[in-house]
Amino acid sequence: MEEKYLAAEKILKKYGQEHLLSQYDKLNDEKKAKLLDEILTLDFNQINELFKRIGKTEDEKNGKIEPVRCTDKSAMSKEELEHYESIGLKAIKEGKLAAVTMAGGQGTRLGHNGPKGTFDIGLDSHKPIFEILCDTLKDAQKKYGVYVMWYIMTSNENNDATVKFFEDNNYFGYPKEKVMFFRQGELPMVDTNGKVLLGEDGLIKLAADGHGGIFLSMKKNGIIYDMKSKGIEWAFIGGVDNVLVNMVDPVILGLAIDKKVLVAGKSVIKAGPHEKVGVFCKKNGKPSVVEYSEISKEMAEATNENGELKYGESHILCNLFSVKAIEEISKNTLPYHSAFKKAKFLDKDGNLITSDKPNAYKFEAFLFDAFDSLDDIAILRVKREEEFAPVKNAEGVDSPETARKLYKEFHNK
Ligand code: UTP
Repeated sequence: MEEKYLAAEKILKKYGQEHLLSQYDKLNDEKKAKLLDEILTLDFNQINELFKRIGKTEDEKNGKIEPVRCTDKSAMSKEELEHYESIGLKAIKEGKLAAVTMAGGQGTRLGHNGPKGTFDIGLDSHKPIFEILCDTLKDAQKKYGVYVMWYIMTSNENNDATVKFFEDNNYFGYPKEKVMFFRQGELPMVDTNGKVLLGEDGLIKLAADGHGGIFLSMKKNGIIYDMKSKGIEWAFIGGVDNVLVNMVDPVILGLAIDKKVLVAGKSVIKAGPHEKVGVFCKKNGKPSVVEYSEISKEMAEATNENGELKYGESHILCNLFSVKAIEEISKNTLPYHSAFKKAKFLDKDGNLITSDKPNAYKFEAFLFDAFDSLDDIAILRVKREEEFAPVKNAEGVDSPETARKLYKEFHNK
């Protein structure tokens, strides 16, 4: 331990992070060993680089942004729809599709005490979100005769509670062997001076590295391998917080196979020019998503010859990836974006610092940053009222109340 301590001290000195050992003496032996391991394995160069880039947004002016074409599901003829459906159905029945749910987020806006998937949006049945999602897989089993594999990405913070919830609820009646959990990666949080934070437990304060971390964690946790060994060729990847998500959709799968693309995404028409959503676009000729914070007023309001918003295809985090594409994407790290968040941490004197305003940075990768490694993706425009009922905020827009209403309206139809 002595040797490790000296090695850790040396590294910290090199990077100006000596405060990380300030609480060392107060820790028990197990935590002492853990902290030293954390320090010895942390990539401080990466943290320095990420900190230096905070505030330096990508220069959009240098990136040529263009609108993108989509296939509108409601404008498809009966024949077209049946064509895509039959292609997708064949692949589903052959066991080539898996569902992946990203449930590693902190859900800070919702403020629920526990993983977001355990939240009850207030349906008469009081089904928690995980059960609502599981229903779509059970329905698919009834319709197509296959139990689709369900992979659930958790974080270190919520993994145990998530697994326990599934155990306690008997996997909502879904076969346990068809459900696999895997944890996403983490990165340290830093303060406004670039100092890595110590959490309340005296260890390095880590936070989930964003939904874009999924590709790397699928590789590290053997999920890509597992899919390949089961003959799975496609994975629908969606967030946990859309209670109208359709995880087993033959149409988008058939569209991707027919158009010979490795990735497809669903969009809904943007509710208005200034709705706070990212929209699909082409950037320097490659598929991309431009965030609402990065789009100019002119671009947001621009309309095409049909009077539709030029940049009006909202990205709803409902995407289909071929396992081949996941494997390729997982070979590279996606760029990290910084987010200024509220964090509780220990200062160098061991005082617990809390704040009601953001006070520290976390670094996150975004799933859609993977699109630009592809020449093309297929985009299927679906109806908001059929496929998109997000649960983001405790009240107001995209809240349990709005999601519950959308869910009920859709299922009463
Ligand atoms: P959001 O970006 O809405 O974040 O995640 P969030 O953590 O759920 O909520 P806030 O921002 O703290 O209020 C969109 C989807 O991506 C998943 C979330 O679980 C959600 O399904 N996600 C997000 C991850 O799996 N890991 C992450 O690190 C971030």
